[in-house]
Amino acid sequence: MKGWKNRIAGMAALLAVPLGAAAADYPEVDLQRAEEINMGRCFLCHGVEGESSTALYPRLAGQHYQYIAKQLADFQSGRRKSDTMVSMVEGLKPEEMLALGVYFEKKPTKARAAADKQLAAVGEFIFHRGNEFSGVAACASCHGERGLGSPQLPRLAGQVRQYTESQLKSFNSRERTNDNAVMHSIASKLTELEVKAVALYISTLD
Ligand code: HEC
Ligand code: HEC
Repeated sequence: MKGWKNRIAGMAALLAVPLGAAAADYPEVDLQRAEEINMGRCFLCHGVEGESSTALYPRLAGQHYQYIAKQLADFQSGRRKSDTMVSMVEGLKPEEMLALGVYFEKKPTKARAAADKQLAAVGEFIFHRGNEFSGVAACASCHGERGLGSPQLPRLAGQVRQYTESQLKSFNSRERTNDNAVMHSIASKLTELEVKAVALYISTLD
């Protein structure tokens, strides 16, 4: 009898560890409130599932919640300039920004197919190897082999091409005003071909 009980307890412990760990990865937030805010305004550009409604807007699905909450706070404080986002974050409370982050990180992601395979191959090279002749570091060395990022670094995998291109250009010109030191030094060494290629390759990652 005792052995049987121990076995059950052991099995329960085995099951409880991974399930408990996954749930504990996210802070406790009001996801219903996040859904309300998304369906009130964000979905128009970022999509109901955070998948991005058109080629113009960044995908938020799968992005690290810490990064999303930080960007929203930076739009609100004016650290990150944006013609569009500044009015969108008006009145958002810090706990709502955190809730929006968790809400979007939990949304499913999907890779995109690249029509131009040769261009994507150039991007794959830059992403994994950088360009030793111009001193561009491999994107993978910070953003990860699959572009998944980390709580400290944005996920790139599956991002909309046009958005990645526009961000690389604005890091270069420092029109992206927040935390641009590292990415400015990288973007300033990329050629136009490399920008297009690496943005295309990134969009195919999942
Ligand atoms: C009218 C279109 C539009 C709406 C509505 C909108 N956004 Fe955005 N969002 C943008 C654009 C465009 C950018 C890219 C920054 C820029 O170019 O100004 C962006 C950027 C972001 C980013 C940064 C993404 C990154 O990868 O750095 C986050 C996070 C974000 N939006 C969240 C939201 C949330 C949350 C809402 C709703 C409260 C919202 N947005 C509503 C257009 C929109
Ligand atoms: C030395 C580390 C490092 C390397 C190498 C690096 N990045 Fe970054 N990248 C960062 C950091 C840090 C940020 C976040 C900046 C911030 O918080 O605003 C970032 C942000 C970005 C963003 C903005 C993401 C968003 O959602 O708005 C893009 C796009 C990007 N990097 C692309 C690249 C590409 C392409 C390469 C390779 C050519 C690359 N990065 C190499 C550190 C790096």
